[in-house]
Amino acid sequence: MYNVKIFGAGSIGNHLAHACRRRGWQVSICDLDPAALERTKSEIYPARYGAWDEEIRLASPAELAGDDFDLVIIGTPPDTHMSLACEVLRQRPPRVLLIEKPVCTPALEEAETVLRLQEETGTFVAVGYNHTLTRHSRRAAELLAGGLLGKTLTITAAFREYWGGIFSAHPWLAGPRDSYLGFASRGGGAGGEHSHAVNIWQFFAQLTGTGRITEVSAMLDLVADGQVDYDRLFLLNVKTETGLVGAVVQDVVTEPPQKTARLQGESGFLEWLVNYDAGHDALRYAGSDGEIIEELFAKTRPDDFAGEIDHLGEILRDGPPDFSPIALCHGLDTMLVVAAAHLSHRRQRTVRINYDAGYGLQALEPV
Ligand SMILES: NC(=O)c1ccc[n+]([C@@H]2O[C@H](COP(=O)([O-])OP(=O)(O)OC[C@H]3O[C@@H](n4cnc5c(N)ncnc54)[C@H](O)[C@@H]3O)[C@@H](O)[C@H]2O)c1
Repeated sequence: MYNVKIFGAGSIGNHLAHACRRRGWQVSICDLDPAALERTKSEIYPARYGAWDEEIRLASPAELAGDDFDLVIIGTPPDTHMSLACEVLRQRPPRVLLIEKPVCTPALEEAETVLRLQEETGTFVAVGYNHTLTRHSRRAAELLAGGLLGKTLTITAAFREYWGGIFSAHPWLAGPRDSYLGFASRGGGAGGEHSHAVNIWQFFAQLTGTGRITEVSAMLDLVADGQVDYDRLFLLNVKTETGLVGAVVQDVVTEPPQKTARLQGESGFLEWLVNYDAGHDALRYAGSDGEIIEELFAKTRPDDFAGEIDHLGEILRDGPPDFSPIALCHGLDTMLVVAAAHLSHRRQRTVRINYDAGYGLQALEPV
């Protein structure tokens, strides 16, 4: 049984607490806001999972500061992630640290420090891009490894979702201005909140050997009215180090939502579909024989996090794997692209990413 501490008694804190409890792990949740702890016990957890779980400890961060944990989860707003990660790694490094997505803001603050602390402490640091570890993503990886596509010609990915659903999961927020969501510079807006699309694009680029994104050309639709300042549409054309060209779309206006990726190869295609219907994720694909196959993967909302937590459980048991799709470097690669997109929009220029320059704004060069 593992001992888990979660920072943040909000929406994701409850999801991940539940996922850990399903595996019989011991869970403590801390939050700076006593009202959030109370809401977890009386509203969020019972409404989602049927009843409050008396085994979960609720506390202030100070009350847990002297305890050691196997797994620490940072489920707070994005603009707090990096400073909390530094604090955790400096004071009581756990064996595994999961930082929720987006790992940081588009300013990429303290990215190099967290990387250095990861090396010094030996903690495995992950970023919560849970969609890379769902059952249909694992199956997609198998199909691609089996050569389904032949040479990959292009990849597109879209996470387009009106964020009314987020606000109905947070009835205590009146709208985007009440949280980081209404501020791109704090990790909100479509670019930060739906960065799952950039991340899954990169995941598939890696699986197909088409390399890292080195050029970004973006157009954003910004909302800035004195109360909020965010991108509601985040449209990217991208190119990789091997010359593959593709596109990423993220928005907070599309209803009903669309969460998809599509890979086109010389001899086949693969479509990856989240929430294909109310109870399933899906894959649609064809190889060189042209026969279109549809595979459905039954799931509920808690299953969105099951693969991720199982993966962390395996790391706690066996140590870090050779490849983890949620390793810190992949989460930082995603934020480099998000930061490049903001710069590209502002400058009306393509932005090149120089990975040799490290994780920071110095890696971005308008061309
Ligand atoms: N992977 C996913 O599918 C997914 C789903 C939801 C949210 N998220 C991510 O999780 C993060 C949090 O989102 P949320 O919707 O749960 O937010 P939320 O506002 O519901 O909860 C965040 C909580 O963190 C608390 N907090 C802030 N600073 C703290 C600190 N220093 N110590 C302890 N508690 C602190 C706040 O009081 C608040 O209760 C965001 O980065 C979001 O993008 C990911």
